[in-house]
Amino acid sequence: MSEKLAILGGEPVRKKPFPPYPVIGKEEIDAVNEVLKSGNLSSFAASAGPKFLGGRKIREFEENFAKYHSLEYAIAVNSATAGLHVALAASGIGPGDEVIVPPYTFTATATSVLMHNAIPVFADVDPRTYCIDPERIEEAINPSTKAIIPVHLLGHPAEMDAIMKLANEHDLTVIEDCAQAPGAKYKGKLVGTIGDAGVFSFQETKNMMTGEGGMIITKDEELAERCRMIRNHGEAIIEGKKRSYISNIVGWNYRMTEMEAAIGNEQLKKLDRFNEIRIKNSKFLTKNLSKIEGFNVPYEAPSILHVYHVYGMIYEEEKTGIPRKAIVEALNAEGIPFGTGYPHPLYENPVFKEKIAYGDHGCPFTCQFYKGNVRYESGLCSVAESLCYKKALWFFGARPPAAQIDMQDVVDAFIKIEENIDVLRELK
Ligand SMILES: Cc1ncc(COP(=O)(O)O)c(C=O)c1O
Repeated sequence: MSEKLAILGGEPVRKKPFPPYPVIGKEEIDAVNEVLKSGNLSSFAASAGPKFLGGRKIREFEENFAKYHSLEYAIAVNSATAGLHVALAASGIGPGDEVIVPPYTFTATATSVLMHNAIPVFADVDPRTYCIDPERIEEAINPSTKAIIPVHLLGHPAEMDAIMKLANEHDLTVIEDCAQAPGAKYKGKLVGTIGDAGVFSFQETKNMMTGEGGMIITKDEELAERCRMIRNHGEAIIEGKKRSYISNIVGWNYRMTEMEAAIGNEQLKKLDRFNEIRIKNSKFLTKNLSKIEGFNVPYEAPSILHVYHVYGMIYEEEKTGIPRKAIVEALNAEGIPFGTGYPHPLYENPVFKEKIAYGDHGCPFTCQFYKGNVRYESGLCSVAESLCYKKALWFFGARPPAAQIDMQDVVDAFIKIEENIDVLRELK
């Protein structure tokens, strides 16, 4: 006789929480203290950094991040949302332009497009990788299309060869949203180095973090220069000339602080090790959960390195006869924090569905330069809908400092649920 499920009053498999995240070491603390003692907390001001390019830690972090990616240019910003906006603005995307994005991602992938008065067009995702499906991109391309933002979702790289082929054929800009995948590789290349620009997030749940923060990387010198200007009010900083107060490009204040950059330098040194732990823990789960009926372990496409920002499983209610909600409740009761991921595809958000972003005149959808008629109705992307409403099961806990002993609890909880599957079915 198997043990009684915790949801029915039995002993939970795990009684203590998973180890806290993020992992902050002495190195990060010392680096922040050094900045505080220096008194230079931002250093974008005229008196501090050269040419308003940020203080010592910012420039160090940018240099280190660029070097890690074997690229020349990295521009630190205060979030990936800011980074996406800057990259779109610097690429010349504007009113009337369409940008193809997946609907199964965090809001900012699509709202950053609205932020620059362009129109996000949703192309469905691949049911195995959860990343944008190149065939769906191809169907969405039209004369208004100017860019694609593939997202390397949950740490799995998008299908970049096919995406770059389409971009080259149609002269489109590609901005990789790498928020969830620093260190992931597609056919040996680090994500962010394949498209025109790559944008990273260092918000505190990410694989490396600075509290809040982001980075844009590119091999294009001019694009990098425009990004630097847009990050800092659009003020022209031209080599050998005095600062001009005449802005020749619209910019914002998207500057990172020295404290964040100091943390980023230390976290970057640890990124590969952090990712190795995620991979090791995730592979342990995959090895031990792959035979459990009704639960599909994460797919890995050939020739990629998945960095498991999230351990994303597929649940098949048809096989167990139990709704996903009941499974999640049973796992949570056992002390295992699984969730169901994004609640709905992005086009279900009122900002898209009602096509009102700015004011009450329908801007930017009614902009005179917009010649298309973008659709945001339910049913648009069936794969994303089935992931959101039925199939996705997400686990954030494979991250460091969690170890195999913690993953064993996850496995034990799944086995317990499998042994009690008939009991659980009766409960629904
Ligand atoms: C795929 C994706 N893009 C963009 C962002 C935005 O990142 P940030 O919070 O740094 O603005 C996130 C954050 O969760 C994300 O997951």
